[in-house]
This record gives sequence, structure tokens and C-alpha cells, in this order.
Amino acid sequence: MKNKMLANYRIFAKSLLAMFLLCSIADVQAEPEAKKGTVLITGANRGLGLALSKQFAADNYHVIGTARSPEKATELKKVANEVLALDVTSDESIKALAKTLNGKTIDILVNNAGYFGPTLGLGTERDKSATLKTLTRSEVLDCFAVNSAGPIFVTQGLIPNLLASKQPKIIIISSRSGIINQSRSAGAYGYRISKTAVNRAVKIMSVDKALGNSIVVAIAPGHNQTDMGGDRAKLTPDQSMKMVKTLIEGLTKKHDGGFWYYDGKKLPW
Ligand SMILES: NC(=O)c1ccc[n+]([C@@H]2O[C@H](COP(=O)([O-])OP(=O)(O)OC[C@H]3O[C@@H](n4cnc5c(N)ncnc54)[C@H](OP(=O)(O)O)[C@@H]3O)[C@@H](O)[C@H]2O)c1
Repeated sequence: MKNKMLANYRIFAKSLLAMFLLCSIADVQAEPEAKKGTVLITGANRGLGLALSKQFAADNYHVIGTARSPEKATELKKVANEVLALDVTSDESIKALAKTLNGKTIDILVNNAGYFGPTLGLGTERDKSATLKTLTRSEVLDCFAVNSAGPIFVTQGLIPNLLASKQPKIIIISSRSGIINQSRSAGAYGYRISKTAVNRAVKIMSVDKALGNSIVVAIAPGHNQTDMGGDRAKLTPDQSMKMVKTLIEGLTKKHDGGFWYYDGKKLPW
């Protein structure tokens, strides 16, 4: 009788242990994998911004994509964790974004939003249209507002969010068009000089104490098949942005204040 009770007790104890182990395994499996960090990408509703959002979202980052018209950003909504409104030329818009993000950490800020001008891309018909004869003041100033001042003031507005990160990374998507010692053809004055200007800002931001220990870099994405780059471009946005994501993840202090090509090579200013 005593032996039978002991045997039953052993069976009961083993069952309890088995149930406990099964529950623990189930708990581990149900636990969502912690996010690798938060990345905010401007101009994320199409082109390179959308492709980069996809790359980060697929690798378990918390992605905040911004768009001038979030209600129309259908593709981005399928990908990003948050879709927020931002016009990089508007102080009110930047303030509203900062208010929405108050208290949240941003580990990676990608200033991607860009404007080429009223005509189409370099190497296409628009290239010839924007020579000095036809260039307008508004083309130059609009390019500066989006491509040069935009990244500076978006970064300024998000300083508290960036400083909350252990190692903030601030990326400016620039262009080889901004390289000073390289002009095979005339045209695209506004675009080209606005990218040269923002490259200068990168160098200054990299030594600005207001940005703490941030790493600030300019990245040229290569010629891509987007609305801006046109159909004849060599790269697809997915190809280029896959490499840009790898480059961003691998950024260290030795990259700080530098101008990098999407494949990781150093570019001249
Ligand atoms: N594609 C290339 O070959 C190439 C080469 C070198 C550098 N880049 C650079 O890469 C970046 C992305 O280019 P992309 O080819 O993806 O261009 P894109 O297809 O023309 O997309 C531009 C993005 O910027 C946004 N944007 C424009 N003005 C804005 C503003 N005021 N505020 C907020 N967002 C604004 C657009 O929003 P809306 O949809 O509302 O217009 C869109 O989301 C740009 O900085 C560009 O200069 C591109």
C-alpha cells in the first residue's frame, strides 16, 4: 500500500515537472523578440526611403517612416510600425513630429527626403533643361530648403530623442552630384549645390557638442531606379538599400563626419 502511494506520488511529481517545463518553453516561444532599435526615415513613402524602411522592418527594427501625406502612404503603412507626417521644409511640421515623439528614443535618424527640381533626373532630358539659361531662383531655393536645410532642422528638432540613445547615428542621404571636383555636364544647379552644402553640414554636425557622441555621416546611395533616378539607373532601391542598411549598422566613430558610398567606400567631398 505504502509502495503504491509512493509510486503514485512519483508519477504525480513527474507530471507536474513535465507541465512546468512545457509551460516554460511555451513562454519562451511566445516572448516577442526585442527590437534591435528605433529608426526614423524621412520621405519614406516611396523610392529609397520606402526600400530602406522595408530593410529595417524585415530585420526587427522599430521603423518610424515619415511622409508629407501619411494618409496616402499605403505601401509604407504595410511596412512601418509608425507612419507620421513630416514636411522637412516646415518648422511647424518638425515641431509637431517632435511633440508626437516626445520621450521616445531614436537610435538611427535617416534624413532621406530629397528634391531634384521641377524636371527629371541627371542623365535624362531634364539634365539639359536646367542649364543656366533656363534655371530659376525658385529651383535653387527649393532644393536648398529640402536637401540642405531640411536635414539640419529635422535633426535639430529630434536632438532629445537622439540623445536618449546610447549611440545615436545620424545619416544624411546625399549624392555624388554634390562632389565639387566632378562635373561632366551642366544642369541641375539647385540639386547639385544643395547636396554639396549638406555635405558641409555633415562635417560641422560631426563636431557639434549638441549632438553628444552621435555618429554623423553622409551616404551616397548610387544611381537608383526611383522617380528621381529614372528607369535607366543601374541599381534597384532594394539592392542599394540592403547595402546601406549594412553600412549604417556597421558605422563606428571612425566613420564620423565622413562621406560614404552605399558599398562602404569612402567618397571625396
Ligand atoms: N534615386 C537616385 O538615383 C538618387 C541618387 C543619389 C541620391 N539620391 C537621394 O536619395 C534620396 C531619396 O531619393 P529617391 O530617389 O527615393 O527620390 P524620390 O523617389 O523622388 O522620393 C523623394 C522622397 O522625398 C520626399 N520629399 C520631397 N520633398 C519633401 C519635403 N519637403 N518634406 C518631406 N519629404 C519630402 C518625397 O515625398 P512626396 O512623395 O510627398 O513627394 C519622397 O518621399 C534623396 O535625398 C535623393 O537626393 C537619390
